[in-house]
Amino acid sequence: EDYHKGVKYLHESGIQRVPKKYIFPISERPNSSYTINGKPKMSLPIIDFSQLHGPNRVQVLDSLSYACENYGFFQLVNHGIPEEVIRSMVDVGGKFFDLPLVEREKYMTTDMTTPVRYGTSFNQTNDGVFCWRDFLKLVCEPLHDVLPHWPSSPSDFREMAIAYSKETKILFIKLVEAILESLGINVTTKNKTQQQNDDVEEILKEFEDGSQLMAINFYPPCPNPNLTLGMPPHSDYGFLTLLLQDEVEGLQVKFNGDWVTIQPIPGSFVVNVGDHLEIFSNGKYKSVLHRVLVNSLKSRISVASLHSLPFNSIIKPSPKLISEKNPKLYRDTDFAAFLEYIKSCDSTNKSFLETRK
Ligand code: SIN
Ligand code: FE2
Repeated sequence: EDYHKGVKYLHESGIQRVPKKYIFPISERPNSSYTINGKPKMSLPIIDFSQLHGPNRVQVLDSLSYACENYGFFQLVNHGIPEEVIRSMVDVGGKFFDLPLVEREKYMTTDMTTPVRYGTSFNQTNDGVFCWRDFLKLVCEPLHDVLPHWPSSPSDFREMAIAYSKETKILFIKLVEAILESLGINVTTKNKTQQQNDDVEEILKEFEDGSQLMAINFYPPCPNPNLTLGMPPHSDYGFLTLLLQDEVEGLQVKFNGDWVTIQPIPGSFVVNVGDHLEIFSNGKYKSVLHRVLVNSLKSRISVASLHSLPFNSIIKPSPKLISEKNPKLYRDTDFAAFLEYIKSCDSTNKSFLETRK
């Protein structure tokens, strides 16, 4: 089937109308139902990372906590990752999608556990309706094992992807530190017993050895952007996602029942709470539904870094956040449970988290 060649292929073949396979039911299309309630665009809370270690630390942590509780999302500015590393990643990602299909197809597989996976739609083995997206997914840890599997073309692909994945991992760890503190699980020694500090060190150590997955998404222009989606509504599996979007808008977040478009801030990251953080925080921080719209004029590229605990870890609410007043709201879970869920789900069912409550 041509569908499995992806949407870049369809776009290049010059189609004038999206094939039936990509047409979503009316209620799920971009302009349906609960969209546009007078506030179609929204600025996410902005977290200035450079302020985190200055005199405004407490306010920054408060904003972080507010954002994670009420939006599940924030924009991270002044994060310290060099502009050059970011630009090179987007460039080399774009160059990968510019390779001839025969070159990209080498990495096509439906096996979810391979270190590199090229594909189309959301979950192309199960999707009844296909999405207008092609993607390349890279497992980033442990680097020396996975690296030989990564694309060697374009020639600077690995170099740029390594630099980018290392920088985002460092940033992720710093964000976890801040998030633990915002949840009242403190890192600093002040007013804390040695026991509590050791626990935080232990949590951070586990994240250092954690899983990292990178998804480079490519959305070519679409002849009927109102009939389809680049990605269906879903929440992210994992602890945090650090998303880089280029200057073309497309990402929408569910907020107060509306789909709102997140306007790109060049050089910033959109960071969102994943299912694992919602579970870890025992429901305080929210893993929020989001989706992607496409447009008829411009290609769009995004790079998502998904971070969590090691694949074999058990994800559970932090014992520090559970009390008689705050009973445990989620069942313990692991990666195997997630894979089991993926196998059983179709395009109408995108919330793993709902199965964990
Ligand atoms: C996502 O990873 O869910 C969103 C990706 C994008 O904005 O393209
Ligand atoms: Fe996502």
